[in-house]
Amino acid sequence: YHVDWDASAAEKGGYDYFMLKEIVEQPKAVADTLLGRVGVDGTLTLDEMRLAPSDLRDIEKIVIIACGTSYHAGMIAKYAIEHWCRIPCEVEVASEFRYRDPILDRQTLVIAISQSGESMDTLMAVRYAREQNARVLAICNVNGSTIPRESDGVLYTHAGPEVGVAATKTFLTQLIACYLIGLYLAQVRGLKFGDEINAVIAQLANMPEQVERVLATVEPVRELARSLSDADTVLFLGRHVGYPVAMEGALKLKELAYMHAEAFAAGELKHGPIALIEQDLPVVVVVPSRAGRSVLHDKIVSNIQEIRARGARTIVIAEEGDETVRPFADELIEVPAVPTLLQPIVATVPLQVFACELALAKGNDVDQPRNLAKSVTVE
Ligand code: G6P
Repeated sequence: YHVDWDASAAEKGGYDYFMLKEIVEQPKAVADTLLGRVGVDGTLTLDEMRLAPSDLRDIEKIVIIACGTSYHAGMIAKYAIEHWCRIPCEVEVASEFRYRDPILDRQTLVIAISQSGESMDTLMAVRYAREQNARVLAICNVNGSTIPRESDGVLYTHAGPEVGVAATKTFLTQLIACYLIGLYLAQVRGLKFGDEINAVIAQLANMPEQVERVLATVEPVRELARSLSDADTVLFLGRHVGYPVAMEGALKLKELAYMHAEAFAAGELKHGPIALIEQDLPVVVVVPSRAGRSVLHDKIVSNIQEIRARGARTIVIAEEGDETVRPFADELIEVPAVPTLLQPIVATVPLQVFACELALAKGNDVDQPRNLAKSVTVE
């Protein structure tokens, strides 16, 4: 009796690629990263971070450093942290950071986001920040890796090992870690938890289920991706936290499908990128949720109208039941309605599937894209 078996096929759990397996593992990765950190009454417990609440109370500025996909998580963290904690927050790619003489001191908290904990650019930025006396908190997925060892504190993501070179489940868990840190900072600094923050904390627990719902509805996205495998360029537009989501969607497409893909802040469209719009050009638009952000929402809807009037093929990611976008969307991808700042958790997933499927349609190896490494340990 003979069974065809090889260890790598078994590790892929029935999927042809690790990336496909890692995309569907996202609800669990998110749940595991939340586990034990959010109390039933909404109190957050992050003592494991190794930074005392007293250290966090006198922070005057936050600087986030990261590379690649982790940088996009950092951009989203900035929106959340400034809004919830009212602490000025900057975010920068690690390779630029230490070469521009940044202003750092004991009251600066540097947050270094790195899945692997080994990216050399991020590690060098961490060393530089500590030399300048700043406190450094790492967000990392690999236990005991170099960046957390060299940082003052660490909050681990619990995504489990990620084999696919392009980050997927680790990105969603980095977002969760960033949200937890933002909410925790607000908590230890004694900010009164308003309705909005309470709603966000309550919603965090639902995120695994929301991601599950997105995964259950991505079949049309896969079909759409296959239909676009001959496109030369795909543009991505987003606003607010939808902008870093658009950037992540474009990065995934470059990494996996080797296609020209570029993201713009939707408000910048009129300052240049609109000149690129031509007949049938696919443009993916990430529409912010309407709750509390209706002005932004309306502005991006008019962007969609503008590009469609110029012949673009509009691929719109919007929350369920958003009828205002439907008339202008050639393709409408609906995601569950969640608080605006949490929307990246659900809105990124269709973009991962889109890039992965398009790359597969081109015959690319999505686990080992050409020229890329999972962790870049040179500067
Ligand atoms: C490489 C990987 C990316 C990753 C980036 C940062 O470029 O291919 O997927 O986002 O490194 O890696 P890190 O481990 O620091 O998050």
